[in-house]
Amino acid sequence: MTSYMVPPPKNIPLSEILPTEPLLLMGAGPVPIPHAVASANGVVINHMGDTMNEIISRVKTMAKYAFQTSNDKIFGISGPSSAAMEMGITNLLWPGRSALVCSMGTFSHRFSELASGVGSDVTIIEPKENKPFSVEEVEKAFESKSFDVLTIVQGETSCGILNTNLKEIVRVAKKNNCLVIVDAVCTLTTMPLSMDEWGIDVVVTGGQKGLSSIPGVSLIAFSNAAWDVIENRKVNCPHWCLDARKANMFWTERKYHYTAPVPGILAMYEALRLITIETLDKRFERHHMSSRALQKGLEAMGLTLFVPEEYRLNSVVAIDLPKKAESSKILNYMIDKFNVEISGAFGLNIIRIGQMGEQCRSQNLFKVLYALGMSFRKNGFEVDIASGMARLEENLVLDLEHFVE
Ligand SMILES: Cc1ncc(COP(=O)(O)O)c(C=O)c1O
Repeated sequence: MTSYMVPPPKNIPLSEILPTEPLLLMGAGPVPIPHAVASANGVVINHMGDTMNEIISRVKTMAKYAFQTSNDKIFGISGPSSAAMEMGITNLLWPGRSALVCSMGTFSHRFSELASGVGSDVTIIEPKENKPFSVEEVEKAFESKSFDVLTIVQGETSCGILNTNLKEIVRVAKKNNCLVIVDAVCTLTTMPLSMDEWGIDVVVTGGQKGLSSIPGVSLIAFSNAAWDVIENRKVNCPHWCLDARKANMFWTERKYHYTAPVPGILAMYEALRLITIETLDKRFERHHMSSRALQKGLEAMGLTLFVPEEYRLNSVVAIDLPKKAESSKILNYMIDKFNVEISGAFGLNIIRIGQMGEQCRSQNLFKVLYALGMSFRKNGFEVDIASGMARLEENLVLDLEHFVE
């Protein structure tokens, strides 16, 4: 018998590692996925050929609806949302070009790292305090310098702030001949975003949040103006997998680029199909109502929300942690006793509850609110659970069509 330097490791079936009942994912993503999405994710077919061609063409058509664009340059990416961000940056920036990065937290700041990574000149602006960007702040940046690309996030998941002036900020950038990349990772299909009407050049999103698909397969859409720059660039794209011209071979010309993440694309197909059935209007309304009801419930319990109502992000709600409360203890009690998971934060003294896609179902809202209340109480912080639950119920229009599949 061959003696291997590395012997086979101990055999541990996945079932021994995973919890018997999956945790209810009520954090900042990934989110629970519908059964149709999960089933599609278990299927592998040839990534080339007629069946896949039809699927790709329909994914693009449905994605156009989600992005509200008539542009045909829509690609799926085998990678996280950060890879979609990287595709946008890498194809539009290179040494000699410049980026204005509107940074208000972990994710919007990530654009600056990606942009310096490809050797472009990067200017970072930050809003005053914990606020969305004002139009004036962006206008001021253009007074002293011109930029090729502006990057901005619609909703900053890390702190729960919504960029309420996004549409106007895009207008300012376009007036200054600057392309705009918008990160709609946690917001797409949870609230209005109209790529063409607002004049956005690149929109990126991930599967695992508003779309309620799986993590690891993302979407990007390019405007004609962005595509002109990409087609005419003389400098090679340094990222082979993320080269949009190469991705276009698969997503438009149906030629080989790399082996597509077939199950993830099938899952995305089903997620987008469910969105088209629900329709964007109803989906926005469901998200708005669910999140606002949860927020009211949290406040009635006696908790303080981190972001004022006028620019609070509905997709991810940030809650102040009371003094002396330990985030890990609050979160772990919810996991251990209620099988519900929510998120901590990146350095801020907050915890976060996701309100994206399947998270916005009444049964999930009641469960997460009750679990959180009980966790605070068991950890020694008095909260009014009964009032919180009642306020949630009062503010939810229990329309079965909206909330229960
Ligand atoms: C707004 C936003 N942008 C980008 C990302 C990065 O996504 P991923 O972890 O899939 O790369 C996230 C993830 O939480 C996000 O919330």
